[in-house]
Amino acid sequence: MTRELPRGKDPGSPFVMFKKKKRVLNEDIPEIVRSSGLRHIAYIMDGNGRWATSRSLPRELGHSAGAKNFKEIVRYSKNIGVRYVTVYAFSTENWKRPQREVSAIMKLLDQYIDEASLEDEIEFLFIGDRENVDPRIAERLTSLEKLTAGRSFRLNIAFNYGGRDEIVHAVNKAISAGCTEISEKIISSNVYTCDCPDPDLIIRTGAEYRISNFLMWQSAYSELYFSEKMWPEFKPQDVDSAVIEFSKRKRRFGGV
Ligand code: IPE
Ligand code: IPE
Ligand code: MG
Repeated sequence: MTRELPRGKDPGSPFVMFKKKKRVLNEDIPEIVRSSGLRHIAYIMDGNGRWATSRSLPRELGHSAGAKNFKEIVRYSKNIGVRYVTVYAFSTENWKRPQREVSAIMKLLDQYIDEASLEDEIEFLFIGDRENVDPRIAERLTSLEKLTAGRSFRLNIAFNYGGRDEIVHAVNKAISAGCTEISEKIISSNVYTCDCPDPDLIIRTGAEYRISNFLMWQSAYSELYFSEKMWPEFKPQDVDSAVIEFSKRKRRFGGV
C-alpha cells in the first residue's frame, strides 16, 4: 500500500524544489549568530567612489554597484539570523558632494523604494532628518514604513542621517513633549532607533577607521570591525568573517 506524503514533504515534490531557500554559506554561522547574541549589525557602506575610480568608472557607477551589494548583504544578514540591520546610506555631510553625485544617489534611493515595497519580510525605518529632503521622496519613505510596519526583520536605513543631529533632535523632541531634565533614558527613548537594541556589531568597509557621525549615541558599546574592502566587493563570506570575529570578542560593558 502506498502512503501519501503530505504536500511539500515529498522530496521529489515541486513544493520542496521551489521552496524559498535561506541561503547561508556556512551552516555553522546561524548558530554562531544565535549563541553570540548577535542581534543587530550596522554597516557603514563606504568605498563606492574609490571602487569605481579604481576601475576608471564614474563615481555614480560605484553607487549603483554599492546599491546592488547592499541588497545582497541585507538579505544575507537576515538569512543568518540577524534580527536588525542598520545601513548608513547618506549622511548629513554628504550634501557637500558634487550635485551630479548627490542626484545619482537620490535616484537610486527612489528606485529602491519601488523594489522595497515588494519585499514581504522586511520592516523599513528611515532614520535621519526627513524635513530637509525632497517632500516627494519623504512621503514615499513614510508610505513604505507604514506599508511594512510590524514585520519580522527590521532594516533601518540611515538617510540624511548624522549622529550629532540625531541627539539634538532627540533632546528637542523631549523638550517639546514637556521634559525639563534630560537623562540617558530620555535620549535613548527619543533617538530614531528607540525601538531597537543598540548595534552589537558595526562593520565599516572602505579601509577608513572612523565612525563619521554614525550612531554616536547607540555605538557606546558596539564592537567595531573594519574591512579593507570597498563596499561593492564586501561579500557574504566577509560577513561570516566579521561574525566569527565578533563571537570571539569579550564584551565587558565596563565590568570585569
Ligand atoms: C559611501 O561610499 C557611500 C556614500 C557616502 C553615499 P563613498 O561614496 O564615500 O566612497 P568613497 O569613500 O569616496 O570611496
Ligand atoms: C560615511 O562615509 C557615510 C556613508 C557611508 C553614507 P563618508 O565617505 O561620507 O565618510 P568620510 O567623509 O570618509 O568620513
Ligand atoms: Mg567615503
